[in-house]
Amino acid sequence: MSGDWTIRLVQRRDVRDLLAIEQAQFPEPWSRAMLLDEITNATTRRYTVAVHDGRILGYLGVMFVLDELHVNTLGVAPGEEGRGVATSLLDDAWADAATRGITRATLEVAVSNERAQRLYWRYGFAPVGVRRRYYERTGEDALVMWADLASRLADRPPEA
Ligand SMILES: CC(C)(COP(=O)(O)OP(=O)(O)OC[C@H]1O[C@@H](n2cnc3c(N)ncnc32)[C@H](O)[C@@H]1OP(=O)(O)O)[C@@H](O)C(=O)NCCC(=O)NCCS
Repeated sequence: MSGDWTIRLVQRRDVRDLLAIEQAQFPEPWSRAMLLDEITNATTRRYTVAVHDGRILGYLGVMFVLDELHVNTLGVAPGEEGRGVATSLLDDAWADAATRGITRATLEVAVSNERAQRLYWRYGFAPVGVRRRYYERTGEDALVMWADLASRLADRPPEA
């Protein structure tokens, strides 16, 4: 699914917009210093943004560990959800991962974040465990999800 935005690699000057999305969308937002540290580490990280008319609609940060990809962060600007921005960002990352010989992917997601989990299911992620009280501020558990990149699922998760 593609919309009226383009996906490009993040630039240092984007950090202010990323910070605004972090603060609006996450109970434990990363600091400016953490974000800067992440986006300038081009060896093991790949950060991309979806941009429309110079405005950042969303961003995705992944980390590479050997032949694995870890989803570090994914955020869409408030009011821009449900238009396929996250899907575009993940499609781009998956296409890039294929060129790097990445075969598996992993992430943590809050157990209550069903919307993100539905999105991840569509990329072949399935839960493999729980990290207790992973999120310090809320005390919430994280679901650990894994995906075999060769077997992307097209469908919704099975009904609970
Ligand atoms: C989770 C999050 C990243 C999803 O981003 P998004 O851009 O809304 O995701 P998408 O639009 O690609 O897909 C989400 C939904 O929109 C639907 N959608 C996608 N494109 C669409 C379009 N063009 N028109 C209508 N609906 C569309 C998808 O079918 C999907 O439906 P679902 O809710 O039943 O799963 C976003 O809601 C967010 O930033 N949340 C807060 C931060 C967060 O939780 N991040 C993940 C932490 S691990």
